Amino acid sequence: MSLTPSSLVPIFLLVLVFIFPLIGIAKESSLGEILRSHGLPTGLFPQSVKSFKLDQMGRLEVHLDRPCLAQYETTVFFDTVVKANLSFGQLKVLEGMSREELFLWLPVKDIIVTDPKSSVIVIDIGYAFKRLSFSRFDEPRICRSHHGTFFSLSF
Ligand SMILES: *[C@@H]1O[C@H](CO)[C@@H](O)[C@H](O)[C@H]1NC(C)=O
Repeated sequence: MSLTPSSLVPIFLLVLVFIFPLIGIAKESSLGEILRSHGLPTGLFPQSVKSFKLDQMGRLEVHLDRPCLAQYETTVFFDTVVKANLSFGQLKVLEGMSREELFLWLPVKDIIVTDPKSSVIVIDIGYAFKRLSFSRFDEPRICRSHHGTFFSLSF
């Protein structure tokens, strides 16, 4: 296809219709974009993420507006600050994230995508590995307020 002026018009319209709105939401979705560019699902963190910092060493600090609970296939607790090390295909969670397993709260230690083509993510919760489908983390979830004292087991 040669680019004659008349064939550029639809391209220009496409840019207006699709690219400009994307620029508008790019700021909001940038944590998701960063996760995606590291081979991880975009919805690992809930919608209530307020800000985040990522340094060159891959140290990621995510700030939420409050501690909260989000429903994936089990309930996941997010603290106000989640600290993790981010590398390709892996989020090594250092603090701030736990999941409910048989009525216990276990810290989420590692979120690993071993093979992006398989669309499976592996979650290390200390005593076991959970294999979950990528699609469960496509969209950031709503995170309900969490009231009361929260006790997390650490190993
Ligand atoms: C996280 O990253 C920092 C900086 O690269 C490193 O010093 C630290 O050992 C890492 N922690 C884990 C648990 O991998």
